[in-house]
Amino acid sequence: MPLVTTKEMFEKAYKGGYAVGAFNVNDMEMVQAIVEAANECRSPVILQVSAGARKYANPVYLRHLVAAAVETTDIPIALHLDHGADFEICKASIDGGFTSVMIDASSKPWEENIALTRKVVEYAHAHGVVVEAELGKLAGVEDDVKVEAHDAMFTSPDEVEEFTARTGIDSLAIAIGTSHGAYKFKPGQDPKLRLDILEEIGRRLPNFPIVLHGASSVPQDKVALVNKYGGAMPDAIGIPESELRKAAKMAVCKINIDSDLRLSFTAAVRQHFAQHPDHFDPRQYLGDARAMMKEEVKHKIINVLGSANKA
Ligand code: G3H
Ligand code: 13P
Ligand code: ZN
Repeated sequence: MPLVTTKEMFEKAYKGGYAVGAFNVNDMEMVQAIVEAANECRSPVILQVSAGARKYANPVYLRHLVAAAVETTDIPIALHLDHGADFEICKASIDGGFTSVMIDASSKPWEENIALTRKVVEYAHAHGVVVEAELGKLAGVEDDVKVEAHDAMFTSPDEVEEFTARTGIDSLAIAIGTSHGAYKFKPGQDPKLRLDILEEIGRRLPNFPIVLHGASSVPQDKVALVNKYGGAMPDAIGIPESELRKAAKMAVCKINIDSDLRLSFTAAVRQHFAQHPDHFDPRQYLGDARAMMKEEVKHKIINVLGSANKA
């Protein structure tokens, strides 16, 4: 099956009360871990590429890695630009074969966000590509956008109808308490999502797919593994999986996860070298990293997203 857009994925996810995972990729092992996990779970999947990933790997390499994933599986796979900062990066991604782009103008003033988002939508739709945009601000660090915790701003339900109508976007990322990175909350805190805001947005935008960024849960067993084998990660917790599960049953159709997969990858590499200090063949430790990342993706698909057997 060729690369698909997220249109049909989201229609099914909305009706079915589940979400599709959007996982960040930077290299071959990550593409393989995610796609093998999704394939074994018979789940649709979104592979997303940030500006940092484009710089690290070269978008042409990433596109061909994803083409290889498409050729070797039969599940629906979408290729998405994560946090596109301007029209040019969205256009380059569309011209380069991506099936979905995010234009992240959420830090810009209202009219500017609308005008830039509209411009991307016109170009994307003319090329059969779908567009995600954002309203509200997440705490944490995004590619080219830094938002201090105290600046974090929940999405206002009063703005969503005008924004979607004037821009023509296909999905909307909202801020309801998630944040980027592995250091979201301190242990002992009890993070909750503002599901009341999500519910109200769902009422204002019937049948419209909502996206959650910053949805890593920071699995404590992986943090413990990193720190057991020489790491020094500060104590931190993420978004409870039970909160994400509730959101996935509501209007949320796409959940972005990056940090948890990085954590699994790194935990496996650290463990590998602690157990095999003599190893120097990258296939040995990258093989372990790929396997641990794959297990984490399967866990998300089955226990958080609910997208198993929906391919
Ligand atoms: O939200 C951002 C993603 O986690 C991508 O991170 O910019 O380090 O590639 P990155
Ligand atoms: P995490 O840092 O919580 O994994 O969020 C990833 C993300 O939102 C990518 O766009
Ligand atoms: Zn994000």
